[in-house]
Amino acid sequence: MFINDTVLRSDWIIACKIEDVKEEPIQVIILGERIVLFKNELGIHAFKDLCIHRGAALSLGCVKDGNLVCPYHGWEYNSEGTCTKIPQLPEGRSIPLKARAIKYTCRAEYGFVWINLENNNPEFPAYPEFTDSSYRNVLWGPQEVNANPPRIVENFLDVSHLSFIHEGFLGVPEHPEIGDYDVHTEGNRIYSDEIAIFQPDPDGTGIAKNVYYTYEIVQPLSVRFTKRDPDTDNKMTIMLIIKPIAEGKSVAYGIMSVNYETGTTDQEMIDFQNMIFAQDKPIVENQKPEDLPLDLQVELSLKCDRMSIAYRKYLKRLGVRLGTE
Ligand code: FES
Ligand code: CO
Repeated sequence: MFINDTVLRSDWIIACKIEDVKEEPIQVIILGERIVLFKNELGIHAFKDLCIHRGAALSLGCVKDGNLVCPYHGWEYNSEGTCTKIPQLPEGRSIPLKARAIKYTCRAEYGFVWINLENNNPEFPAYPEFTDSSYRNVLWGPQEVNANPPRIVENFLDVSHLSFIHEGFLGVPEHPEIGDYDVHTEGNRIYSDEIAIFQPDPDGTGIAKNVYYTYEIVQPLSVRFTKRDPDTDNKMTIMLIIKPIAEGKSVAYGIMSVNYETGTTDQEMIDFQNMIFAQDKPIVENQKPEDLPLDLQVELSLKCDRMSIAYRKYLKRLGVRLGTE
């Protein structure tokens, strides 16, 4: 696996949108592990997608009276994973204590379902814009990517590709230069200075000018930037959140938050982001090595790559395996 699983398993990992969990249970795959999600009046619950009786996938079953029912022989599990019914047991025979589903800690936040596979309930990643009423929040994704998550994350933190890959949208070839900036660490926060980026039409008026980006690392697989218009102080924040499915397979989600009237619908904002992401995708799907090089000498970095370097160092401190070690 591309990464030290324990680091990610001990954190919150995005599973899907809240709206994806409907009346029927669904399966999600995280770090190669099959997980069933279902909901009842107590909320959304996550179990290992495995019935202890004969290994059937519980996600093929259904929800009945708030219990998850295995499709194969009808064993029923409550929200805690305790088996409450085995239809085959003769009258009066008690259910074995071992008859349990493996339960994972699960939370519904920011429009998404998040899972903590080690059940250590770590601090939840902050995203203050979501509860700030001056912001409009639009969920983005899922977007499947055939790449390991750190390459996708690093691409999002990469300042200097904007005038090339996203030419005419997020940058212009006449202004490829990136001014010097620093990356700061304050407690758990790792964030950049404001970085000036010259964009052809940052606010929809058709006038090209500099806007300012501040990047921040939120979690190993969640990063964000805030783009500020110096004339209006309008802000747009995008948090990118990656679901690690298996080696070479990821899904990208995001939250787009704006504190101004964009003149566009949610769907138009999503479509624009999809178009931008489609420009990045062939790059990240074809980068070699597939894992981020840990040794900073392996690839040649420039000063403008400071945010990417900060991300690599952050992963290294966490003990995340990056390949080519
Ligand atoms: Fe689930 Fe038998 S395999 S009830
Ligand atoms: Co890009």
